[in-house]
Amino acid sequence: MNDSNNSLIGKTALVTGAARRLGRATALALARAGADVVVHYHTGAAEVQTVADEITALGRRAWTIPADLRDASQAESLMDQALQKSGAVDILINNASIFPSDSVLDLSPETLADAVAIHATAPLILSRRLAAQGRPGAIVNFLDSRVEDYDPTHASYHLSKRMLLALTRMLAVELAPRIAVNAVAPGLILPPDGQDDSYLRNLAHTNPLQRYGNSRDITDAVLFLLRSEFVTGQVIFVDGGRHLKGKTHG
Ligand SMILES: NC(=O)c1ccc[n+]([C@@H]2O[C@H](COP(=O)([O-])OP(=O)(O)OC[C@H]3O[C@@H](n4cnc5c(N)ncnc54)[C@H](OP(=O)(O)O)[C@@H]3O)[C@@H](O)[C@H]2O)c1
Repeated sequence: MNDSNNSLIGKTALVTGAARRLGRATALALARAGADVVVHYHTGAAEVQTVADEITALGRRAWTIPADLRDASQAESLMDQALQKSGAVDILINNASIFPSDSVLDLSPETLADAVAIHATAPLILSRRLAAQGRPGAIVNFLDSRVEDYDPTHASYHLSKRMLLALTRMLAVELAPRIAVNAVAPGLILPPDGQDDSYLRNLAHTNPLQRYGNSRDITDAVLFLLRSEFVTGQVIFVDGGRHLKGKTHG
């Protein structure tokens, strides 16, 4: 889908949950690579205009659209509005996420339903709508370093990210040959809300490279996937090798 110098110039990307944190970093990295960006947000109304302004300052077009992705009809409407504003969407980044603390024994059906809606149903709806345009494209889903082993203290999150892993591989087959579908699986990158970098430092020993990453490590992987014309259905673990240890705890 790319021109000879692997630029994203002329492409439009929709990034979910892009008002803050890794979504914001990804939206800006795509803009730096030449893409116009539809910046989706939920509660980040105060932050999202700054992201749009930064994209515009890079010489790219930006549009902001709110949607609560727990609601399937809002996911449908998000793509409708993105297409109305931009004309076409070439790249979809399914980044939006919730990270509730729960276990298999105490999770509530409501929290599980929210996690599935945000991590699996909305990505499915948005991906189908991207494909329905009938043009070439690329999708990158945001998973988690622990997606293939176990995260006992975030059970709703883990179950729903596992759905997104399965969906990544299913869509890679179903949407080929026009659309490549891949994923990144971040490890220790940003501390959870309310924690600082000491959270990352304290856990750095849990991965083989004994360090923690940063937003650039993630956006580099995303850009690699978007520029790779012969890669689909893959997951890049950006986690210092933590997934190789397959530990249940830690
Ligand atoms: N940070 C890490 O180190 C790390 C590690 C492993 C995996 N990941 C994965 O990488 C991705 C980005 O991580 P992150 O820490 O930057 O994510 P995050 O801050 O937990 O969430 C990203 C965005 O999701 C949006 N969101 C939450 N509930 C929503 C809803 N109901 N409807 C629509 N959007 C909603 C929020 O948008 P608003 O702010 O606008 O409400 C939020 O800013 C996630 O998929 C996460 O699972 C991250």
